[in-house]
Order: sequence, then structure tokens, then C-alpha cells
Amino acid sequence: MEKLIVEGGYRLSGTVNISGSKNASLPILAAALLTDEPVRITRVPDVSDTNYMLQILSQLGASVERYSGTVRIASPDGISSSASYEQVRKMRASICLLGPMMARMKRCTLPLPGGCVIGDRPVDLHLRAIQALGARVRVKGGNMVIEAPNGLVGTTVDMRGDSGPTVLGTDNLMMAAVLARGTTVIESAAREPEVVDLANFLNKMGARIEGAGSRTITIHGVERLHGCEHTVIPDRIEAGTFMVAGCMGMSDGITLNRVCREHMKSISDLLVECGHVVEYNEDGTSVSVKPGERPRSGKILTNPYPGYPTDMQAQMTALFALTPGISVVKDTIFPQRFMHCSELKRMGANIKVDNGTAIITGVEGLSGAPVMASDLRASAALVLAALAAEGTTEIHRLYHIDRGYELLDDKLELLGARVRRVPDLEGGLVE
Ligand code: EPZ
Repeated sequence: MEKLIVEGGYRLSGTVNISGSKNASLPILAAALLTDEPVRITRVPDVSDTNYMLQILSQLGASVERYSGTVRIASPDGISSSASYEQVRKMRASICLLGPMMARMKRCTLPLPGGCVIGDRPVDLHLRAIQALGARVRVKGGNMVIEAPNGLVGTTVDMRGDSGPTVLGTDNLMMAAVLARGTTVIESAAREPEVVDLANFLNKMGARIEGAGSRTITIHGVERLHGCEHTVIPDRIEAGTFMVAGCMGMSDGITLNRVCREHMKSISDLLVECGHVVEYNEDGTSVSVKPGERPRSGKILTNPYPGYPTDMQAQMTALFALTPGISVVKDTIFPQRFMHCSELKRMGANIKVDNGTAIITGVEGLSGAPVMASDLRASAALVLAALAAEGTTEIHRLYHIDRGYELLDDKLELLGARVRRVPDLEGGLVE
């Protein structure tokens, strides 16, 4: 177990390279199961979640080679269709194995994913999708046992849930449909850039997918898929996290390379609305940010893409905590995703959380304190607050950050922050 020691108040400046997207990599790595030919994927971030996915693929029988950000996977015939609880329990996103396993092997046994701190993580829409294609689903011993002895047959499926579209549910249906007989139409599809990146990867493998990025995706089933090469898109949430850091009081302005302006619109627009400076280069692959002269409070209502991402509201809350005025954050996708607020209050933030909404009243300054990371983006919010706080902050349970941020402490040090990763002997308070 490790913790991060952050000395607050050190000025930030300079340039940092953004890594490949964790949330694009995970389904793309799983999609390697769809062919027995090797696939080569570059710019896969070296984070725990992608490592877990590669371990699972290897334990299923795929051959996996990794050298820095490049991964080569080959999934021969005869790979297992069953992933164990031990393997899957570490990462909810392993649900995205369902689609490729069903397409390739017509059966799979996957543990029902547990919940997590950001809320219940149901899979009813994933099961609706695979049943619509003709599969039978049984729950046995905490596992989903899914079979399609007669193969999968294309149809039209509306994937809208009570909380709107589902990202990994859309991914799973796309991956299940690429080898199904006939045509599948996904209505109410998720439009996230990570879904589009997966569709592009599948089309490079020989799939016939149209409409990715819109609410209606059409997949014409094909006989087989072949190997390909692909570079994962930039991580828009890592980029957004660093943009927020660059707009906080301790920043003299920073530049991020390897971003994609088109994916960042709602994130950039909010920072500009709050009075900060956001300037992209001509082709939108690099962005410079710095704090505004007169920062303004703001409002966030999270929404599916292209709306404001739920994965960015915690990070913005850290900025709002030090912005004069009253800001409001409402998460319509994960209404319980406010674990960071109680920890920010330990640092002196003035936040009231009620019924899926956080009311943040800006304060003059935050003070360093021992705090507890709880989920990936909440942890990032604590790091941002610690950079701006006066004094030292200890962030326990660093493994939450390592799930989705590649070399975060190294990148922050490059920008002038004073952060140290040390063993956490006490491991933070009891769970
Ligand atoms: C993806 O999770 C991301 N993870 C999450 O990022 C992100 O927060 C989320 O999309 C929303 O944008 C990956 O891509 C690996 P959903 P996913 O299915 O696909 C409900 C991070 O920090 N729902 O789009 O699992 C669900 O409860 C992570 O990087 C159902 O009701 O999320 C939620 O309210 C955290 N039934 C809403 O839909 C289902 O079967 C959206 O969830 C599935 C989902």
C-alpha cells in the first residue's frame, strides 16, 4: 500500500504529454478476443485497469506481449469462455468481455460485477442486449452463465436505461453483433469518443459498423475478423484533470500535448465560462490553460456525451472549492458520486451534499490534511486540492489513482509540484 505526500503551494508551469485513454483501451483490449489473428495496439496506458484486463486475457488463454505503451494480443481457438471471480472482482469494466466472448465462443461465464463507491453498477442493459441477440442468461453462484447454442442473430435493440445510454453496454452489443447473423441496430447508443474508437478498431478488423458517435449504430454481421494495428485516442479525462490543475491558483499556466480538442468541448467550455484561459493550437492537439484574472463560480449538470462528463465533476469541485461564490454540481449519472466532498471538507472546503447535488461555497484557502482516496476521480480531486492547499496533504490508498492515471506523480513533478509516493504503513483508516 502506498500514499502520496503533497506539499501544497508550489507553482505549476511547463508542458505534459497526455496518455492514451484508459476507457478506450479496456473494450479495445477485450475486442482482441474476436479474432485468432494478432492485433497490435499502441498508446495503451500503463495503469492497473489495463494491466488487470491483460492479465484476464492471458488467463483466458490469449498470448499477450507488452512493451511500454504497445500491446500485442493473439487469441487462438480454444481460449476459455469463463473468467473467475478472483480475476474479475478487481475491475468492474471486465463486463466488456461479455460481448466478444459471446461473439467468438457463443457462451461465457462471468461473475456478476460487484458495486463500487460511486454507486450501484447494474448490468441489466448488457443482459437485455445479449438476450435480444438470442442468448440465454442464467445466474448461478454469483455468475452470469450465458449461452447462445444457435449463435447470435442481429436485431434492433434500444439500449436506453433509466439513467440514459450505457457506454460499456453499447460496446458489448457492438462487439457481440459484429459476428452475428444479419444486421443489428443499436438505438439510444452511447456517443462517447471511446465508443467511436472501439468501432474504428472493429472496422479495421473487418467489421461493418456505421453510425458510431450518433445515437443509432448499425452493425452488419460478418463471417470473421482479422488482425489489425490501432492507436488509442488521447485520454480526455486525464487531459481535463490536468486542465483543472492548470486553472487553479498555484498555476502560472501549463500546456498539454497529445489532446483532442473535439473530445474536450464541454470540459473546455466550462473552464472558459468560469473565467479561465483555454487556448488550443491550430489542429487542436495541444492546449494551454491558466487561471483567469477573476474566476467565477459555475454549475455542472453531468450528462452523457457530448454533455459534461460525470468523470470530471469531482475534479471541478476541487477548483470550485477555491472559487469565490457558490457553485453547484449535480450528477445525473452517478447520483452518489460525492465521496470526495467529505475529504475536501477535511481540508477546509465548504460543501453541502444533498440528494445527488453538491453546493460548493468558495473559501479563501484549503489546508493540507491526511485524506482517503475512495474512487479514481475522487482521488484526482484530492490531489488537485492538495496542490493548492497550504501545508502537507497525505493521500492514502493511492491504488485508486493508479487504476486510471499513468505516472500522475511524475507528470505533476515535471510541472513543478512537490509530490512524493511513499509506503503507507498504516494503510489509512479501516475500510
Ligand atoms: C463508463 O462506465 C466509464 N468506464 C465510466 O468511467 C464512466 O463514468 C461511465 O461510462 C459514464 O460515462 C469505462 O468506460 C471503463 P454506463 P460504464 O454503463 O459503461 C446505468 C472512470 O472513472 N446502467 O455508461 O460502466 C449506470 O448505473 C469510470 O473512468 C444501468 O442502469 O457506465 C449509470 O447510471 C467510472 N444498467 C448509467 O447507466 C446497465 O446495464 C451510465 O453507466 C448499465 C448501466
